[in-house]
Amino acid sequence: MNAQRTAMLTVDGKSIDLPIYTGTMGPEVIDVRPLHGKTGFLTYDPGYMSTASCNSSITYIDGDAGELLYRGYPIEQLAVHCDFLEVCYLLKHGELPNVAQREDWGKRVRNHTMVHEQMTRFMQGFRRDSHPMAVLVGMVGALSAFYHDSLDINNPEHRLIAAIRLIAKMPTIVAMAYRYSKGMPQMYPQNRLGYSENFMYMMFATPCEEYEPNPVLARALDRILILHADHEQNASTSTVRMAGSSGANPFACIAAGIACLWGPAHGGANEACLKMLEEIGDVSNVPKYIARAKDKNDGFKLMGFGHRIYRNFDPRATLMRQTCHEVLNELGLQDDPLFKLALELERIALEDEYFIEKKLYPNVDFYSGIVQRALGIPTQLFTGIFAMARTIGWIAQWHEMISDPNQKIGRPRQLYMGAVKRDVPTMDKR
Ligand code: SDX
Repeated sequence: MNAQRTAMLTVDGKSIDLPIYTGTMGPEVIDVRPLHGKTGFLTYDPGYMSTASCNSSITYIDGDAGELLYRGYPIEQLAVHCDFLEVCYLLKHGELPNVAQREDWGKRVRNHTMVHEQMTRFMQGFRRDSHPMAVLVGMVGALSAFYHDSLDINNPEHRLIAAIRLIAKMPTIVAMAYRYSKGMPQMYPQNRLGYSENFMYMMFATPCEEYEPNPVLARALDRILILHADHEQNASTSTVRMAGSSGANPFACIAAGIACLWGPAHGGANEACLKMLEEIGDVSNVPKYIARAKDKNDGFKLMGFGHRIYRNFDPRATLMRQTCHEVLNELGLQDDPLFKLALELERIALEDEYFIEKKLYPNVDFYSGIVQRALGIPTQLFTGIFAMARTIGWIAQWHEMISDPNQKIGRPRQLYMGAVKRDVPTMDKR
């Protein structure tokens, strides 16, 4: 990166020039790395409202335009023209695969869909009623205990095999968590099936009878995975990058990302949103909840609404609403009361001055719960599906970071507000 111009900072009568870098699109950045060494000052930005933590070529978001690009391709086009494994290839390698590359990629992923048999016993150590995200954090972290042959992050082949193992095994692990919670036997992956069909098979098939996934529903699930695949430097991706910056193995880094995604302000919002819709129950209650969302003294927030970057529609929410229509029509659930309630809640909120003024629009989580529920996925597993999809984004971002020769361990500083230096009083003086 070359600075075409600089920004001057003057503090206490002393001025320094800081380089300005321009990307291919989006906001320019001021490089503050020299700041502390030259002035003794630190920048202060809790929540990283104005901070770029890295440079990246993977995903671009224009929050004002409501635009999302994976490696330059608009999400609206990828969701229509590609399947999820093509998008995985794109995010990892930077280009869409041709026929031969797609075939080879699919074969490599299919060859790794099973997990080590002892992971089944590891799973059985959890309570049956454990939250699936707790199980996922444990099981994905435990992959480092089973796959010692792909932990050397400096070995490109290890990095690729670890990436393929994670992409391939996440559906198996998510389905295992579901089956275990229901007291049902694990269904082993069927490599004759596509990625999303295989997941539906492992989730819903039984050993007692034939099961063929509904192609319309499988395609809808595949699209849901595409919509959730990556999203720039969100909280869980930043967690993966931070963990990876210490040299931790990829399985441990992805487990850290899963833990962060679980939060209701992030990936846990789809589960929270469906519970909110069930609590609202009827359109007549919508005004009361809109009023609560606007009340500063009420901690209630409209789940599935708002976003740090999107100050316009989240393009994924629009695509998710379309997918919702398709799935509900396919299942003859056009009159699904929760979907109708969601549509009415969206309509009322978008006409409300508070939401307009604060630029709060539905985000990816607003409709995803409704469509996943229609697909038969239990509410507690919604964020697990998000994690399954986001694994490729986390891997691509992790790989980009550790491949950067200038990468350093992440180590933010602080504004200290604690006690000044003092002596320890003896016990009789406390
Ligand atoms: C995801 O970062 C990503 O890219 C994440 C994600 C991804 O793909 O990785 O897109 C996935 O996490 C989507 C977001 C899912 N979360 C929710 O739906 C939870 C509800 N939304 C809010 O918690 C909130 O909007 C956030 C967390 C999403 C964004 O929070 P910010 O950017 O810190 O904004 P903020 O909380 O400071 O809100 C700005 C104002 C505040 O009012 P003031 O203090 O300025 O008066 O808007 C208000 C907030 O109170 N506000 C809301 C609201 N969201 C923000 N008020 C009511 N309901 C809401 N949902």
